Amino acid sequence: MITRREFVIGASSFALAPVLTLANNQSDLSYDDLVSQTYKHHQQLITKHSDILRELVRYGTMAANSHNTQPWKFKLTDHEIHILPDFSRRCPAVDPDDHHLYASLGCAAENILIAANAFGLHGDLIIQEEHESTIIISLDKSKEHTTSAYEAIPKRQCTRAPFNGKQVSSSVLNQIATYANSSDIDIHLLTTNKSKKVITDYVVEGNSIQMDDKAFVEELQDWIRFSEADALEFRDGLTYRSTGTPSVPNWIGNLLFKLMYRKNNENDKYREQIASSAGIIVFSCTNQTKPDWVNAGRAYQRFALLSTANGIRHSFINQPVEVPELRPQLANYLELGDKLPDLIIRFGYGDPTPRTLRRPIDQVLI
Ligand SMILES: Cc1cc2nc3c(=O)[nH]c(=O)nc-3n(C[C@H](O)[C@H](O)[C@H](O)COP(=O)(O)O)c2cc1C
Repeated sequence: MITRREFVIGASSFALAPVLTLANNQSDLSYDDLVSQTYKHHQQLITKHSDILRELVRYGTMAANSHNTQPWKFKLTDHEIHILPDFSRRCPAVDPDDHHLYASLGCAAENILIAANAFGLHGDLIIQEEHESTIIISLDKSKEHTTSAYEAIPKRQCTRAPFNGKQVSSSVLNQIATYANSSDIDIHLLTTNKSKKVITDYVVEGNSIQMDDKAFVEELQDWIRFSEADALEFRDGLTYRSTGTPSVPNWIGNLLFKLMYRKNNENDKYREQIASSAGIIVFSCTNQTKPDWVNAGRAYQRFALLSTANGIRHSFINQPVEVPELRPQLANYLELGDKLPDLIIRFGYGDPTPRTLRRPIDQVLI
């Protein structure tokens, strides 16, 4: 089940590792403190307009994002929130064209648009293609209202674990797909065993290719925060908790990663995870421009929020999109015509898993 960054080293293989755990926490706040501080609705009435915009940025940062690189910067004006790419956080090996990076910005934008309504604001979004495709959300007064998608923002997470095999009713799935839908994005729902098997084969083939790619593996490793100290200091990447591994000093983490991150283990996990899922959703678009990628991210985020509101969990399985030779093959299988798949997600019912962290707002505001 592992993708580069999203790897989960088998817990059993790590039986000895807790002995090596170093409590090297230099922050006053524990991991659990940071999680509760990050994933919450605003606790008190916010009336000052500039404070509301800041709070909306906080909602944006709760969004899904590739490798948890948090590849975004936010700029506030009187009535606008600008979302800019942070290219210092790009992942050239897995995402050479920045397609996941722009989808991640779309995820953040969607959270902001949905949360704005809860503060009596309505957001209009444009993408300035001439300026690195900066996303600009203009906010105007409107009627205050909340939705189940809004309620789900702090609860949404990617859970990289098997689900329980239970199916999702087609009426619930249709409702979620309708909410996620947008004119420029195609949505495919795959729920038969046959189609899940086809996607599994693509994921396993893609994962095998990626794991043979030194640049891919090194990049993944760079974004893993093996130690408690690094998790708390950087508050980004794949922290030891979110990957289901114990906290160890970096040198041990890197060594164990080299020893334990094995193709067969990872492929077996993917097989199990997909087989246990109720289905797979694929988001595709035609032009493969930055605005298209942003819109794919927005559509995913809507899917993820309404799924979460309905008690459905999800996790990305993007290898067939990330490995260039597999992408057109998958497009062909899905009969996408001139479109290409952008994001692939499995979904189902299951337990929550430990959360990832986010950087403080002051670090993402410019
Ligand atoms: C564009 C995009 C691509 C992603 N690709 C993968 C992936 O291939 N495998 C995976 O397990 N997670 C993937 N993720 C999920 C992120 O790793 C996850 O959102 C991030 O670690 C933050 O965790 P959270 O979503 O639980 O808050 C992707 C997310 C986005 C937005």
